[in-house]
Amino acid sequence: MTTDFDAVDYFTDQSLVPDPHPYFDHLRSKCPIVQEPHYGVLAITGYEEAGQVLKDTDTFSSCIAVAGPFPPLPFTPEGDDITDQITVHRPQMPMFEHMVTMDPPDHTNARSLLNRLLTPRRLKENEDFMWRLADECLDDFVAAGKCEFLTAYAKPFSLLVIADMLGVPQEDHEEFRIVLGAPRPGAQVGSLDGDLVGLNPLAWLDDKFVGYLEERRESPRDDVLTSLATAMYPDGSVPPVLEVARSATFLFAAGQETTTKLLSASMKVLGERPDVQQALRDDRTRIPVFVEESLRMDAPVKSQFRLAKKPTKVGDTMVPAGTTVMVCPGAVNRDPGRFDNPHVFDLDRKNVREHIAFGRGVHSCPGGPLARVEGRVSIERILDRMGDIRIDDEKHGPEGQRNFTYEPTFILRGLTEINIEFTPTG
Ligand code: HEM
Repeated sequence: MTTDFDAVDYFTDQSLVPDPHPYFDHLRSKCPIVQEPHYGVLAITGYEEAGQVLKDTDTFSSCIAVAGPFPPLPFTPEGDDITDQITVHRPQMPMFEHMVTMDPPDHTNARSLLNRLLTPRRLKENEDFMWRLADECLDDFVAAGKCEFLTAYAKPFSLLVIADMLGVPQEDHEEFRIVLGAPRPGAQVGSLDGDLVGLNPLAWLDDKFVGYLEERRESPRDDVLTSLATAMYPDGSVPPVLEVARSATFLFAAGQETTTKLLSASMKVLGERPDVQQALRDDRTRIPVFVEESLRMDAPVKSQFRLAKKPTKVGDTMVPAGTTVMVCPGAVNRDPGRFDNPHVFDLDRKNVREHIAFGRGVHSCPGGPLARVEGRVSIERILDRMGDIRIDDEKHGPEGQRNFTYEPTFILRGLTEINIEFTPTG
C-alpha cells in the first residue's frame, strides 16, 4: 500500500511512526519549508532553514516548543507582533513553567541555574559514576545471555545518571527507580512499597527536590544539591526554591527518555550490523563517531516547535506572525544537501557532528555532553561484557523481515522494546 503523503496527517497518522523518513523526504522534495494541510504547520526539513529558525529568538518563540499544534493556541493571533498576546496567555500553554518553553530573558535566568550543575568537574565525577553504574546494571542480567534492553539497561541507566548528576543521595536511588518506572529486572510490583507506586512522577519529583533544596538552604553541606540551592540569578537575586526545583526536575523529563532512545537505537545498529559491531570491537576510538551517527540517523527528538511572533522570511518563504513552525531534526539530519547518502549509517562520516539532534541556538540541549558520555561509556562496557550481540529473531522476526515498534508520538522517535541475545563475556 502506498501512502498519499500530500493527504496524510503527520500529527495523528500511525502509519508514519515505524519510519517517518519517506514522508520527511517527500516534504523536502517539495520545498525545505512546506505548509502541511491539516493544521497549517510550516514543516522545515532543510538544514540551513532549520538553523535560521532555531537561532532567531527575536522572531520565534519557544512557547509551543513541546506541544506543537496541540492543544491549539489559547488565543487568535492578531496583528504583526503577537509578543504581548504570548505573554498574557503563556500560563495557559503546556509546560510554561519549564525553561524549554521560555523565551529570553526568563529563559536566560532559568538556564543560568544549570551552569552550577553542568560544570567540567561535575561532568567528570558523573562520568566516574557512569562507569560503575554501567557495570551494576549489566550485572543484573548479563549472565542470562539475552534481555529486553530498554528495561534491563537503557531506562535505569539514563535515570540514575541524572539522579547522580543532581546529587540525589545514593540511598534514595532505589526510590527513584521505583517511582520513575525503571525498577530492577525481576522486581515484583507486589513487593514494592505501596506508598510509592502510582504517584505522579513529575509532581513527586518537584516535592522531593523542594525538600532537598529547602534543607540545604537551611543547613548547607558540601554537595551538589547545596550548590544548586544557593545558586543565584545573573542579576544577583535569589530564585524561589520551586523555580530551582523545576530546573532540576525538568532534567529528568528532558534527559531520561531521550537518552534511553539513543541507547536503544545504538543497540539496534549493533544487533543489525555485525560489520559495525566488529569495527567497534577492533577499534574503540570509533565509538564517539558511532554515537554521533546513531544520533543523526535516529534523532530522539524528531520534531520541535516554534511560534512566529512577527512576520519574517525563512529561505524564500514568507512566514506570517502566528504561524506554527515545526523544525524536524529527524529530517534535517538526513538533508542530502548536508549529508552524503543520508539514509546510510556510515562510521566514517566526516561531518557527522553537524547533525542537529541536540537542537541549535539558546535552547540547544545542555545535556548533550552528558548524553554523549552516557553513550560512549555504555557502548564500551556493553562490548566488553556482551559478545556477538544479535537481535532476538523470535521476538523481532528473522533477518530481512524484522518487526520493530516505535513509540506513537509525533515529537520523539524511539523503540518501544528491543530484545537481544549475546554471549556473556564478563
Ligand atoms: C540523546 C539525548 C538527548 C537528546 C537527543 C536531546 C535533545 C534535546 C533537544 C533537541 C533540545 C532542544 C529543544 C528545543 O530547542 O525546543 C533539548 C533541550 C533540553 N535538554 Fe536535551 N536531549 C538529550 C539529553 C538530555 C539530557 C541527558 C539532559 C539533562 C541531563 C537534557 C536536558 C535538556 C534541557 C534542560 C533542555 C532545555 C534547554 C533549554 O530550553 O534551554 N537533555 N534536548
